[in-house]
Amino acid sequence: MATRRDKPDYFSRRARHEQFVSRAVYKLADIDKRFRLLHPGQRVLDLGCAPGSWLQYLGSRVGNTGLVVGLDRQPVKVPVKPPVYFWQTDIATLDPHRLKTLTPAFDVVVSDLAPATSGIKDVDHQRSLELARLSWQYARVLLDEGGHYLVKVFEGPDFPGFVAEIRPHFQQVQIVKPEGSRSDSREIYLLARRRLKPPNDV
Ligand SMILES: C[S@@+](CC[C@H](N)C(=O)[O-])C[C@H]1O[C@@H](n2cnc3c(N)ncnc32)[C@H](O)[C@@H]1O
Repeated sequence: MATRRDKPDYFSRRARHEQFVSRAVYKLADIDKRFRLLHPGQRVLDLGCAPGSWLQYLGSRVGNTGLVVGLDRQPVKVPVKPPVYFWQTDIATLDPHRLKTLTPAFDVVVSDLAPATSGIKDVDHQRSLELARLSWQYARVLLDEGGHYLVKVFEGPDFPGFVAEIRPHFQQVQIVKPEGSRSDSREIYLLARRRLKPPNDV
């Protein structure tokens, strides 16, 4: 039976028209517009980047003086050329320190990582939190002082605990439900801006 999600909505049609590989791009674009996250020359790490609409957007925002590194265990469906680089890997098995061979630090770390959903709310919540915590391991090691961290989570009872873990490391932390995120989806984004001085042990 066809569900509401099978039908192309406004954002899916717009993505096709504007040649983005996924409607997900409009979530990042909305957050960028509202919070002025991205600028030319920035170094951005994109965790869970496939099929690649965020990579397309990030590449155009940072320009040729910037750097965008995407990681995903799935291949991307967009052309990968400088300033964009792609590494096909499971983020749970990669040591984040290895990315320091590409650049010593990033100005922005974004994570749109999502688990394969089971349909069981609490299971999906816990799996997405696991991925969010993994993304924080990357941001903790790689995000520069003053940098920004954006991460998707499926809302649930343990989300406030995750927010409390992140809050002390940034000047400002807020929860955002961007344009383009379906109203019936439990996904929300934690946006943490202006990282405080990282500890010496990273
Ligand atoms: C919602 S999609 C990301 C969409 C992307 N932002 C875009 O604009 O095209 C979530 C991605 O997380 C990836 N993912 C989930 N778990 C992962 C893991 N352990 N390692 C690497 N990628 C993972 C999936 O393969 C999937 O491509």
